[in-house]
Amino acid sequence: MNGLCELSSYIGPMRLKNPVMPASGTFGYGEEYEDYVDLNRLGAVIVKTITLKPRIGSHPHRSTEVPSGLLANIGLQNVGIKGFIDEKLPYFDDIDTSLIVSIGGESIEEYVNLGKILNGHKRVDALELNISCPNVESGGIHFGVDPKVTRNLVTCVRDITEKALIVKLTPMVTDIRIFAEICQQCGADAVSLINGLPGMAIDVKTRHSKLGRNIAGGLVGPAIKPFALYLVRQVCETVDIPVFGIGGISSTEDAMEFLIAGASAVEIGTWNFINPKITMEIIDGIEAYLLENNLHSISEVIGTLS
Ligand SMILES: Cc1cc2nc3c(=O)[nH]c(=O)nc-3n(C[C@H](O)[C@H](O)[C@H](O)COP(=O)(O)O)c2cc1C
Repeated sequence: MNGLCELSSYIGPMRLKNPVMPASGTFGYGEEYEDYVDLNRLGAVIVKTITLKPRIGSHPHRSTEVPSGLLANIGLQNVGIKGFIDEKLPYFDDIDTSLIVSIGGESIEEYVNLGKILNGHKRVDALELNISCPNVESGGIHFGVDPKVTRNLVTCVRDITEKALIVKLTPMVTDIRIFAEICQQCGADAVSLINGLPGMAIDVKTRHSKLGRNIAGGLVGPAIKPFALYLVRQVCETVDIPVFGIGGISSTEDAMEFLIAGASAVEIGTWNFINPKITMEIIDGIEAYLLENNLHSISEVIGTLS
């Protein structure tokens, strides 16, 4: 219970205090936000995608604003699994909410190794598989755009972990419902969607990409919200496992739209950069919505599109 309303739920073995989480890569390793956010109040914390080895990430320019959004090419900069466990994980000993670790790799073996290492750490409650990573064994094609590879990857990680398993889907497929169904069949506890859409912006004076040598990046922010909401609705109609809605959420109203469309929870990305307190404001806003509408539980809202 959060005040007068029931906001909590279970995702496999993991308890979500409420349906509001930061999206991977927009919230650092959690502690960066401690001056703005009471991390204990979040539904769960999701950290930046971790890879086996540390990565320095992309060249500058890594991001540029576009109408209603951001183009970002970070290149999975992260401290690597050893750095995460030694330097970042201990911070969560004093934090009382679930911890979701996003993992990425260049091969299925890398994801499996990361899963096995994280299994040994009780403080980690769930894995979020970032399948928008290039698969070196398939010539750099992203794992999440090939149904066979997605099936293989989710099956292999499911086999080695009893932690809650969330698969983060890419929108860059013809029919995202097929991928969500595969995740469900392979034992995922939830799917989250969407990751960014590819995009470009060009400086017409210099005729260079505004992302420099990176050329393109992921389009995120309010610009993608209607598309994300549409895909979330499609997936919610298709699978029975919980769905986390992501894409352009910047207000309580945006979050409510995803919940009404059927999402069990939401992840807030780019808007953390505009307003670092946005997750707290949305938690308060959802509670206020329930009270105003004389509802006692978030489950009375989820999937009620009429
Ligand atoms: C700067 C930046 C870094 C990101 N890094 C990651 C990442 O490491 N792993 C991941 O799964 N998604 C990453 N994302 C994607 C977000 O988690 C989210 O899916 C996307 O931004 C859409 O949500 P939004 O419109 O609320 O930002 C990143 C996004 C941004 C803007």
